[in-house]
Amino acid sequence: MAFRHAVIERNSILLLVLTLLTVSIGGLVEIVPLFAVETTIERVAGVRPYAPLELMGRNIYIREGCYLCHSQQIRPLRDEVERYGHYSLAAESMYDHPFQWGSKRTGPDLARVGGKYSNEWHAAHMIDPRSVVPESIMPAYPFLDRPLDYALIADHLKANRAVGVPYTDEMVASARADLEAQSNPDADSTALLKRYPKAVVAAFDGNAARITEMDALIAYLQMLGTLVKFSDVKPDALRQ
Ligand code: HEC
Repeated sequence: MAFRHAVIERNSILLLVLTLLTVSIGGLVEIVPLFAVETTIERVAGVRPYAPLELMGRNIYIREGCYLCHSQQIRPLRDEVERYGHYSLAAESMYDHPFQWGSKRTGPDLARVGGKYSNEWHAAHMIDPRSVVPESIMPAYPFLDRPLDYALIADHLKANRAVGVPYTDEMVASARADLEAQSNPDADSTALLKRYPKAVVAAFDGNAARITEMDALIAYLQMLGTLVKFSDVKPDALRQ
């Protein structure tokens, strides 16, 4: 046996091939079973795909690189839970493609920022962070008051569906109408709320006549962390 092993050790190509073979078998044994289970993330009541306006806001969040300074992942450590709220669940980012957990906190974690401030506060903060938080070092984003280009919103939903987000044909067909309904408090939002429970409907930037990038971004920020009602969920149900 030792002699045979010496053959392998003296022949670098053979050693390489056999190493790769061994590593591949190990990899397959670990990875293949994951394809068989329907999902590796436990489902949690309340988590739903993003409403079209929120999805556009998320796209802006990614475009502007907000994740470079903000995480969206509350770790199960006492100081984090006391500051930000219940630790993040995998299910809360199950419809995020790509996820926005982030790796750096120059600013605070945003996983549960939804509902923490008013829409007016967010708009003022985005236009000029120092106007509401004097010591802030966050960059200003005043240009976000430009019109939102949502011509391709149905395609954004379809692209997400292609990677596994359960958008229905009905959701895709009404994406435009839903987006417009969410940013106009005077519109009929019954259908929107049926498709996307708990969606916040408002003229987020204070002007219902125009749909701006600011509307989309604030709609996204206001829903972060609001979908799961933790007071209703017993710790056991949260555990696998
Ligand atoms: C250079 C780092 C940096 C970038 C980039 C950045 N932020 Fe911030 N952000 C901060 C800092 C620092 C604070 C804390 C001070 C403050 O509230 O302004 C903050 C605070 C916030 C808050 C308030 C959070 C709370 O709980 O009080 C929100 C909301 C926010 N940022 C959203 C955004 C969004 C959306 C973007 C992208 C358009 C963004 N930030 C980009 C650094 C940044």
